[in-house]
Amino acid sequence: MTPEQFVAGLPKAELHMHVEGSIEPDLFLRLARRNGVAIRWSTEEELRAAYRFSDLQDFLDLYYDGCRVLVRAQDFHDVTRAYMRRAHADSVLHCELFFGPQGHTSRGVPIAAVMDGVLGAMEEARAQDGITGGLIAVAQRHRSEEEALAMLDELAPWHERLLGFGLGGAEVGNPPAKFARFFERCRTLGFKVVAHAGEEGPAAYVRESVELLQVQRVDHGNACVDDAALVSELARRRMPLTMCPLSNLKLQVIDSVAEHPLKRLLDAGLCVTVNSDDPSYFGGYVNDNYLACQQAFGLSRQDLAQLARNSFEAAFIPQEQRLAAFAQVDDWLARAVGPELEAKE
Ligand code: ADE
Ligand code: ZN
Repeated sequence: MTPEQFVAGLPKAELHMHVEGSIEPDLFLRLARRNGVAIRWSTEEELRAAYRFSDLQDFLDLYYDGCRVLVRAQDFHDVTRAYMRRAHADSVLHCELFFGPQGHTSRGVPIAAVMDGVLGAMEEARAQDGITGGLIAVAQRHRSEEEALAMLDELAPWHERLLGFGLGGAEVGNPPAKFARFFERCRTLGFKVVAHAGEEGPAAYVRESVELLQVQRVDHGNACVDDAALVSELARRRMPLTMCPLSNLKLQVIDSVAEHPLKRLLDAGLCVTVNSDDPSYFGGYVNDNYLACQQAFGLSRQDLAQLARNSFEAAFIPQEQRLAAFAQVDDWLARAVGPELEAKE
């Protein structure tokens, strides 16, 4: 079995994927036409050529502008359903999706259109493919904490349908502490909380997310490698990091995947997971990210299986579902390495 075949069939969870970052160029053009939204590109090739970024802000400018093609519930349904179909084909059993309500409501899109579309697609995917999903609303960190609190209130009719809340967008200059009251309120209401930290920002932002915001997972977290005491603390807590190597490459956080801290942190005992972030913009879905790591670090099948196990350990799922997923990972590993081990004996 080749690494490609092993990764393709490896049961996994994806925990860091933005719905708005999964609009493939063909769907993007169709949605623009369907909604009469003027865009700068007319072909898929032109769009793909535009997906070159110098840093996070350069990407966010295009990404927030691209959200304009999402207008009606059907649009949110179509993009979510397309991602989940693709994830299912990548042996993703469970996914936790980020979405950014503020990027839509600030354009006059009713929050009900967003929620009805995304939730309807998640139900359909579960019924048709058996893939489970959860939803995490992300506050944009360049906006104020008051706006994040208003988003939380606006989502009140859907609180039962949400897993939790997160923090994304322009990191440098917008430290986690800016959102301390928002996170406290989310936690008090019983939500899971996560935050992007240490993508472009410093190790101190990772520490602040964990200690002050009391997040249950850190999204990216790369910069923690700069603080040895923090790495030890994250390992002690088994704090999950939802890492996204191809995203980091495209946004020039790293110059090559071999430079990525993922393997160092995995070896240090952290609960590292592999994810795609914004797959249509960064040219890779979750399996492409696993394979990029496999190639850059020469990961063994045991390493890849450990990453998949970590994804279920870090997922916000019932323990019964977690144990069943662990067993599926172990079965797949046994099937893949069984003949090799027998041959060596
Ligand atoms: N929103 C979508 N993708 C993001 C990223 N890589 N970092 C911060 N916010 C984001
Ligand atoms: Zn992200």
